[in-house]
Amino acid sequence: MKPQTRPQTYRVKSFGCQMNVYDGERMGELLAARGIRPAGEGEEADLVVLNTCHIREKAAEKVYSDIGRLVKAGEEAGKKPMIAVAGCVAQAEGEEIMARAPAVSMVVGPQAYHRLPEMLDKATKGERATDTDMPAIAKFDALPARRKRGPTAFLTVQEGCDKFCTYCVVPYTRGAEISRPFDDLVGEARKLVEAGAKEITLLGQNVNAWRGEDGRGRAVGLAGLIRALAQVDGLERIRYTTSHPNDMEDDLIAAHGEVDKLMPYLHLPVQAGSDRVLKAMNRQHTAESYLKLLERFRAARPDIALSGDFIVGFPGESEAEFEETLALVDEVRYAHAFSFKYSPRPGTPAATMADQLPREVMDDRLQRLQARLNRDQLAFNRGTVGRTCDVLVERRGKHAGQWLGKSPWLQSVWFEGEAEIGDVLRVELAEAGPNSMRGVLRQAALA
Ligand code: SAH
Ligand code: SF4
Ligand code: F3S
Repeated sequence: MKPQTRPQTYRVKSFGCQMNVYDGERMGELLAARGIRPAGEGEEADLVVLNTCHIREKAAEKVYSDIGRLVKAGEEAGKKPMIAVAGCVAQAEGEEIMARAPAVSMVVGPQAYHRLPEMLDKATKGERATDTDMPAIAKFDALPARRKRGPTAFLTVQEGCDKFCTYCVVPYTRGAEISRPFDDLVGEARKLVEAGAKEITLLGQNVNAWRGEDGRGRAVGLAGLIRALAQVDGLERIRYTTSHPNDMEDDLIAAHGEVDKLMPYLHLPVQAGSDRVLKAMNRQHTAESYLKLLERFRAARPDIALSGDFIVGFPGESEAEFEETLALVDEVRYAHAFSFKYSPRPGTPAATMADQLPREVMDDRLQRLQARLNRDQLAFNRGTVGRTCDVLVERRGKHAGQWLGKSPWLQSVWFEGEAEIGDVLRVELAEAGPNSMRGVLRQAALA
């Protein structure tokens, strides 16, 4: 590769989960600390970071077509962008990307992106660089202070996964479970609040596996961290995602009834309703133990909105077993959920299991499952009509004087009236749609 001019502008394109969004922001901060500025809207960036996801389907193929598109757009604009591939595809297929895509200068895994500036120096000299090491804590120590502004922010507290569900690539792309230290997290939360954050969502692949020591040296779990963050002045709302049923501590359930700033929302994936399928998935819980857990959350916080993830068409899933998933959905009545067709991931045990199901069967099951989940989401939304609740204003709506925010139950709420981004206002939920609520402003919050 020829030496390249040092980039003046960057763009990070993040795919996949919220942790990838967080990582993308941190990579941006790292580049900004090196004097590279974010490219404006419509402007061709000198450096493009593709922050990729490997969780399903032909994610890797998408990366190659994105690279092709960037090269073509660059040629049309008469310049050649420097391209970095980051994220979970980079971790899983680093060398292959280098071999197949000569336009790529840098391949950097999710645990190594703090080394992006050194890689950039190399790329400028014309040397291609790959870094897929996994020194997770070192990464956080090496990152610059947070610059993110705005009313909502993500904060990665835990990373990696030791669960090895048989369908999933995350334990391979993100590595072993690690928890960031308590003090670092409280410090980062304070920075985010100083920069305007009213809501912080704590992130982890298994966020409730977070463990640490508080300021007084006591061992604490996620609930202890949440209780400490609730003391941060100016922070109004705390959320966390994603939890695993087997790491749930009693204190986290209790916190939902005790900590006002902890929002009444729980994302707790179950994946399937059949115990045989759950076992083949290596989920290490049953449908019943999962339902019991949800009951305890509902007892602690009766209005809690429940959310989950589902996979249909896992190898060998029979029609009767799929119907057990439908029965579980009927019992829980989720406020929100994500559902996916099983996708065989290279290197995972499920990919080589017998009885991979045909696409038509998966399509049919997904459609039937989603019909019920949509029914329940609308029912949940309708059930909140008439309530007056706090809405955190996140952005302007399409029309003048229109605002968009979130209810405590993570519903999108739009309303009209006097407001500013970052306000928490009393809004009456007046009308329910499948994906949003129309609200009526009732009073300005006491600022
Ligand atoms: N750590 C979280 C989320 C992992 S990925 C958890 O354990 O719940 C997010 C979701 O993607 C998973 O919950 C699962 O529903 C889905 N998923 C993961 N691997 C998949 C695969 N191979 N095919 C289809 N969906 C998958
Ligand atoms: Fe993947 Fe299972 Fe770990 Fe979640 S718990 S990240 S689904 S292996
Ligand atoms: Fe995707 Fe990696 Fe997140 S595979 S879902 S970006 S952990």
